Amino acid sequence: MLRVAVLASGRGSNFVALLEASRAAGAQFNVVGVYSDRADAGALKLAADAGLDTAHLDPRAYADRVGFDLALFERVLRVQPDLIVCAGYMRIISANALARLDVPMINIHPSLLPRYPGLNTHARALAAGDAEHGASVHVVTPELDAGPVIAQARIPIGHNDDAESLAARVLEQEHRLLPACVALYAKGQLQLDHAHVHLNGVQLSAPLQLHDGHLLLSEYT
Ligand code: GRF
Repeated sequence: MLRVAVLASGRGSNFVALLEASRAAGAQFNVVGVYSDRADAGALKLAADAGLDTAHLDPRAYADRVGFDLALFERVLRVQPDLIVCAGYMRIISANALARLDVPMINIHPSLLPRYPGLNTHARALAAGDAEHGASVHVVTPELDAGPVIAQARIPIGHNDDAESLAARVLEQEHRLLPACVALYAKGQLQLDHAHVHLNGVQLSAPLQLHDGHLLLSEYT
């Protein structure tokens, strides 16, 4: 069983989706803990209620970003994760701390990267007049939301959409996309590094695409 640690700053719906998937028949991963920079993160309470290891570290208690990140990683590594998943983790992680981490880390981001790294992705997609929007799971690298993209889920943008309706529909996709990516990694089919994603040893030339709950090569979608 793959051991998954989650970093989260907010309500934790992606964490819950992952936890539920880990409890489904045949799942090959366990969520072993949730860690946060926010004492009030809903994800922490949900994880504690589920009996998981949890910790909150306050960034203000550390001299600088790298100090906080190293302390957080030290705490996370106690549960010996095979994979660290950022699920609504809203802090930038320092390059120095990341360089010393030898556990792969992935993130879910609510846009079709490389479009719209950072915040307010739904409003930005609308303002640009995009015909589609979605979510991406990518490898975490020192540059914000810029690591190689593993997989995406796409939705059409309708004439009546506003940022709120788009966010809700993208979130539904996130809840499918993230567990699907972790499940694929747990099966040993994904190889991740800071530059590339390989599927069964073959380098992906484009992100996998989520269709009916399955991750497909983009040429088959
Ligand atoms: C998600 O949209 C995630 O992609 C973004 O923040 C939101 C977190 O939602 N980075 P939740 O805390 O998982 O409910």
